[in-house]
Amino acid sequence: MNSTVDRSKLAELMRRETQRFVDEHPKSAELFEQGKRSLLAGVPMPWMTQWAGPYPVFVAGAEGARFTDVDGRTYVDFCLGDTGAMTGHAPKVAVDAIARQAAKGITTMLPSEDSIWVGREMARRFGLPYWQFCLTATDANRFTIRLAREITKRPKILVYNWCYHGSVDETISTLEDGAQRTRPGNIGAPVDPALTTRVVEFNDVEQLEKALAHEDVACVLAEPALTNIGIVLPDEGYHEELRRLTRRYGTYLVIDETHCICAGPGGATRAWGLEPDFLTIGKPLASGVPAACYGMSEEVAVRANAAMDAAPTTDVGGVGGTLSGNALSLAAMRATLEHVLTDEAFDRMIALGERWTDGVKRGIEENGLDWEVQRLGCRGEYWFTRTPPRTGGEAAAADDHELARFTHLFALNRGILLTPFHNMALMSPATAEDDVDAHTEVFAETAEALTA
Ligand SMILES: Cc1ncc(COP(=O)(O)O)c(C=O)c1O
Repeated sequence: MNSTVDRSKLAELMRRETQRFVDEHPKSAELFEQGKRSLLAGVPMPWMTQWAGPYPVFVAGAEGARFTDVDGRTYVDFCLGDTGAMTGHAPKVAVDAIARQAAKGITTMLPSEDSIWVGREMARRFGLPYWQFCLTATDANRFTIRLAREITKRPKILVYNWCYHGSVDETISTLEDGAQRTRPGNIGAPVDPALTTRVVEFNDVEQLEKALAHEDVACVLAEPALTNIGIVLPDEGYHEELRRLTRRYGTYLVIDETHCICAGPGGATRAWGLEPDFLTIGKPLASGVPAACYGMSEEVAVRANAAMDAAPTTDVGGVGGTLSGNALSLAAMRATLEHVLTDEAFDRMIALGERWTDGVKRGIEENGLDWEVQRLGCRGEYWFTRTPPRTGGEAAAADDHELARFTHLFALNRGILLTPFHNMALMSPATAEDDVDAHTEVFAETAEALTA
């Protein structure tokens, strides 16, 4: 908890912002009440109850970097569907490709020509030669873990403390005083994750080597930088050590680029010269149409093919999905990669990310807050600590839920949507400098309200 913020003042400010939210969102309130009659907790999926207001705003439409709610209010969207809409909402070129393909058939469980173009493009961007498609990054991770286990005949995987890789059972585990535990809130876990998983702190080479030395770890599943407990960047040389040790102990390295694609068109893998055995990615690849994929090296591909060939049938082997690789997803992916998330778009988005963090830094300094701001490509984030955390454990300890709810609601009431769960903002090709400056102004206002 941040010690410099006066908690009674914070509570009073929060009351005021909550009242303002309720006064300005009657239609969303009404729909939320209706939703409760047919939807669990009134919303179509559980995270939608987690926004900072007493109920979520219901969306009427979204275009570019903005969306409008059912009460007629328009927002600059820095959450962008938690990266699912990093392309900006409804980019015309993708919408046209989606409409064309939808009219020609959406799913046939047969390959379409677009799959070849997309496979080649993924190889060009990320440097791995062979690709497979699915619908979510969660599935890309699940399928990759299965292949790594099958090939290595090892039972475990390794992840970082407070990582997030989707709803993958093996990854929902944390460290508590150095001991491995099932993560708080791990609902209906099939087995104790200690049976399937080793957990270490990010940036801790010694812990990593100790865990890999058991030689029972099929793969390390790693984000290049942690992004789901806030942005935690790797220390200088950490990735070289990670690669050296995984090779030394016969463990595959899976890099999950689902969020770190914000570092550039080939993600952090290309930006930082990483050499994974597998790579997984989902979310923005198809401008919001469900689509994900996983790539692998030549050596892995040979062994994966051998493993699949040896199985009596592959349709019930745990890697698949009836709608995986469907024609609609692939047409949307092709249009997105060819025309939306281009090299030039990333240059502009990253410059906007710098503008966003510069604006936040000014707001922090001018108001004497002991906060810090961090950036990874076109993704920015502020921390309620003076020094950015180096590990997931430090990042979790720096969390200040009460304060974050206030800064989010304050921004929302002034037309700015941040990513829930942390203080993150993402730039899209449709985001403009004025949008970023609008956030800078609101952030300064937040800081003034807290310190006045
Ligand atoms: C790094 C990372 N990997 C995988 C996922 C899972 O994505 P999805 O929920 O689309 O399956 C997420 C979701 O936030 C993520 O942040």
